[in-house]
Amino acid sequence: MAEFKLPANSIVGKGKTYHAPAGAKRVRNFQIYRWNPDNGENPRIDTYEIDLDACGPMVLDALIKIKNEVDATLTFRRSCREGICGSCAMNIDGTNTLACTKAIDEVEGDVKINPLPHMPVIKDLVPDLTHFYAQYASIKPWLQTVTPAPERERLQSKEDRAKLDGLYECILCASCSTSCPSYWWNGERYLGPAILLQAYRWIIDSRDEFTGERLDDLEDPFRLYRCHTIMNCSRTCPKGLNPAKAIAEIKRLMIERR
Ligand code: SF4
Ligand code: F3S
Ligand code: FES
Repeated sequence: MAEFKLPANSIVGKGKTYHAPAGAKRVRNFQIYRWNPDNGENPRIDTYEIDLDACGPMVLDALIKIKNEVDATLTFRRSCREGICGSCAMNIDGTNTLACTKAIDEVEGDVKINPLPHMPVIKDLVPDLTHFYAQYASIKPWLQTVTPAPERERLQSKEDRAKLDGLYECILCASCSTSCPSYWWNGERYLGPAILLQAYRWIIDSRDEFTGERLDDLEDPFRLYRCHTIMNCSRTCPKGLNPAKAIAEIKRLMIERR
């Protein structure tokens, strides 16, 4: 676990500038947060001039180009480059999103890139999501049953299956949770929008037989009720999901069962 506990976007020093090759015509500046736990230096912002005529269209393309051709020390996570794995989530132009689905052309002026806010940083653009994943495990994200397993599979009606739409697509990128002020200040105990959306995904699954226990686990002033309907989560989700609505549904179920 990284020692660095300051919010990732706190004021940082000016770093180096890497110039584009001579003759480059369509140059954009990429201002990127850098922090290396091994060198003892404060965080800084490095500027990379990138020739867009020699780069793919997405912000992730620019990051890969920088790492391959300019500065191999730049550290970030990515895998699928298709908006499916969730590993390239970062703050781009002030918004938490996925670098692989964010077009450079959508950003006006310099492209400012920071790690997801208010998380410990492991290095550069890589946040430490250990606690986030522990919170995910705490909601038991798997089907829980007591009835014996049928010979083939547990069936669902089309209507019950449709209730999972808008939930199963979540890729656990953490963009929503790290945009939520309530999660920033109470993240140790508040589960945050991503994990609550996942909790609701299992609560509402018609095949799950532990709905009551799942609601019991959330009946807590911090785990659920620190959501104050701020809505940043739904505004920022790069998959177009609505965690705030899922949280509202859990609160509604809590009231209904009283
Ligand atoms: Fe990411 Fe959206 Fe899932 Fe939140 S709800 S973790 S922003 S995909
Ligand atoms: Fe936070 Fe979203 Fe609730 S931003 S306070 S989880 S509505
Ligand atoms: Fe997988 Fe961006 S690289 S979501």
